[in-house]
Amino acid sequence: MRRSIFPGSFDPLTNGHLDIIRRSAPLFDEMIVAVLNNADKRPMFSVEERCEIIREVLPSVETDGCRMSVESFSGLTAHFAKEKKATAIVRGIRAVADYEYELRMALMNRRLEPSIETVFLMAGEEFSYVSSTLMKQVFELGGKIDGLIPEIVETKMRGKIEG
Ligand code: PNS
Repeated sequence: MRRSIFPGSFDPLTNGHLDIIRRSAPLFDEMIVAVLNNADKRPMFSVEERCEIIREVLPSVETDGCRMSVESFSGLTAHFAKEKKATAIVRGIRAVADYEYELRMALMNRRLEPSIETVFLMAGEEFSYVSSTLMKQVFELGGKIDGLIPEIVETKMRGKIEG
């Protein structure tokens, strides 16, 4: 049984995240999309909303039989992975700029839990500039981001902005 976690803030879920799920899920029997409950940040969506959105969108993603689930977590990613008996942490790399941060996290996570490997996947080049932060910024300022986030996310973002 090969179980992985795909941790992130997912505020909000983007098509870049879905691309990484689509590419990585077939490598595992099970994958938990692990949504960080980060008390320090002021997210656009609550952790419950983020989980709900991912649960709604996941059935449309082809995962080649990999059993998908969504859970929120607090604290350290490495500890959550261990608690869930996962053997891998999946992360996507978009561009060179991601590498240093991801390397530091992977090495720290390995120090914390040597039995858990971080598996990196290269995001599709069409998503190389897509980040949740950029999506929120452009959307809030009235720019078009269709095709870069799932439709349901755009609807929910509009709901947040229009109140
Ligand atoms: O989607 P993001 O914001 O790039 O995800 C970052 C995330 C959630 C993977 C990272 O911030 C994280 O692992 N946070 C949990 C706390 C933790 O484990 N910190 C030490 C990482 S070495």
